[in-house]
Amino acid sequence: MKNEIDNIYNQAISVIEKITNGEALEALRVEYMGRKQGKLTLLMKNIPDLSIAEKREIGPLINKVKNALTIAFDKKEKTLGQITNSENSFFDITLPGEKFNIGTLHPITQVRLQVEKIFQKMGFEILNPNEIDDDYHVFTSLNLPPQHPARDMWDTFWTENDLIPITHTSSMQNRAMKEKTPPFGVIVPGRCFRHEATDAHHEHTFYQVEGLYIGENINLSHLIGTILTFLQEYFQKELRYKIQPSYFPFVEPGLEFLVSCVMCDGKGEKDKIPCSTCGHSGWLELIPCGLTHPKVIEMAGLDPKKYSGFAWGMGLDRLVMLKYGIEDIRHFHAGDLRFLKQF
Ligand code: PHE
Repeated sequence: MKNEIDNIYNQAISVIEKITNGEALEALRVEYMGRKQGKLTLLMKNIPDLSIAEKREIGPLINKVKNALTIAFDKKEKTLGQITNSENSFFDITLPGEKFNIGTLHPITQVRLQVEKIFQKMGFEILNPNEIDDDYHVFTSLNLPPQHPARDMWDTFWTENDLIPITHTSSMQNRAMKEKTPPFGVIVPGRCFRHEATDAHHEHTFYQVEGLYIGENINLSHLIGTILTFLQEYFQKELRYKIQPSYFPFVEPGLEFLVSCVMCDGKGEKDKIPCSTCGHSGWLELIPCGLTHPKVIEMAGLDPKKYSGFAWGMGLDRLVMLKYGIEDIRHFHAGDLRFLKQF
């Protein structure tokens, strides 16, 4: 009888596994556990005829098998139920998912990352400026002592406790020279602020990428080579360049780096229409720069007789505008998604 019970159990379990619909499962339940003719029920009906010793052994065994089969049937019923439910529901797994907007990087950020990569390849390290800094770093350490008339060029905002939302990223020059050991090159991409009447080319908030290289026997050819390499890599174009004198108290000589206009290829006009990007001149005044003033090197604690260097401060917004043909700088902060989604 023990064998019979085992057989019934094994049979039932293997058939339950193969069942794929509720009806067949119910029929199987009746076949094995049905009140009158169930295979297990019939066996139980024989128990009263057994000896006491056999009863002790068989009774609990039958109960155990009965419980195990009940659990197996219930479990199967549940899984079948789940399958049937999903078959009947309205969920169509072939429908395309709902699109949600994850946004894109702002064009200025995209270009900043490109610019950083190009300079990193040339061995420059990236420094982040403090967005609010003190008079010493923004002006004095750059050979612009208090009352210096050239401070007018950076007319800007001051906080009540005499701090300055930086007007240029040159504010990191002194720190870089104090922290690093020459030869070294750093770039400083950062947000700057100025007291500015805004128009298509001027914003009170804009971005610069400063560059500073300090070493021994540095001359203008190093500066020109670095800037030209960068611009050609950035615009992916062979560009002509020229430099003209300019004035910044922290460089000597101070220069303006001009390249042939990327919009009209330096011709000053396109399809006989005067180029508005370069004002018909064929040249873009792109990067103020120069050789680092000995006083600036000295104020950072380095010997200007031994060390020399070059610096520039380019407008990142301008680089973006030129690359994508954007005509008005004010688009950048207008928060207009129609503009931003194009990048
Ligand atoms: N800091 C200057 C500006 O904002 C640009 C500059 C940087 C010029 C470095 C020369 C050297 O106008």
